[in-house]
Amino acid sequence: MEIIIADTYEKLSALGADIIQRQLLRKPSSVLGLATGSTPVGLYQELVKRHREHGLDFSKVTTFNLDEYLDLSPSHPQSYRYFMDHNLFNHINVDAQNIHVPYGHTEEVDEFCDWYEEEIRRAGGIDIQLLGIGADGHIAFNEPGSSLGSRTRLKTLTKQTIDDNARFFDKNEEVPRFAITMGVGTILEAKEILLVANGAKKAAIVAEAIEGPITAQVSASALQMHRHVTVIVDAEAGAMLKRADYYKWVFEEKKRLVPRLVGKVT
Ligand code: F6R
Repeated sequence: MEIIIADTYEKLSALGADIIQRQLLRKPSSVLGLATGSTPVGLYQELVKRHREHGLDFSKVTTFNLDEYLDLSPSHPQSYRYFMDHNLFNHINVDAQNIHVPYGHTEEVDEFCDWYEEEIRRAGGIDIQLLGIGADGHIAFNEPGSSLGSRTRLKTLTKQTIDDNARFFDKNEEVPRFAITMGVGTILEAKEILLVANGAKKAAIVAEAIEGPITAQVSASALQMHRHVTVIVDAEAGAMLKRADYYKWVFEEKKRLVPRLVGKVT
């Protein structure tokens, strides 16, 4: 794992965008796994800026989002599809036919989940998967206890996740209780993974996920088993990492000696 502690959220977002940009330059037809939530908003703004100002090209890209609330239509302002349209897709030149966000407004959830997995396979697998982390350690909506081999399926959200999401809804009763989500096993099959986290509220869980034991109680800890993960945190989210000095030293050494290796190897 490569752990990068950025001073600020802006630097975190720019470094994250660097990694996605490098992937797109290496392979213009990349398959991107994407996340919603507040953490990647700055990274998406960076990508949009680079598209507008420097022509960063998404025309051959295929995207798969991690998750979507059950029973919210794609046009609902709190749906993840709506979020992605407004924060990224509407502002870049991605082909609408290549966008995949789980469809939460369906009666046939199991069939949909199987189809989603099949579509990822048909696209050749995910080249780079962007992740945030929940305060309970979830990646996508793999709440504590999710099997580390789990696949795309319906999940019941925890009370903590429901409370965390309540800020986006007018009334607590409106906050969805279920979501369709890629599984931990689905995520681990991505060729490369980029996890971003910011703010003091994430400090304890970031340290647990990176430096604690691998356990289904902290889904993000499963990333320790993946061969190519970059974690970018801001100073607040990285505040409880025991080996912070070492991570900073590695980053500085790589920048000094072989800049092309930042975000490439552990
Ligand atoms: C979103 C997702 C979630 C979020 C996580 C952190 O697609 O899968 O796992 O990444 O809940 O959310 P924020 O960034 O809002 O703190």
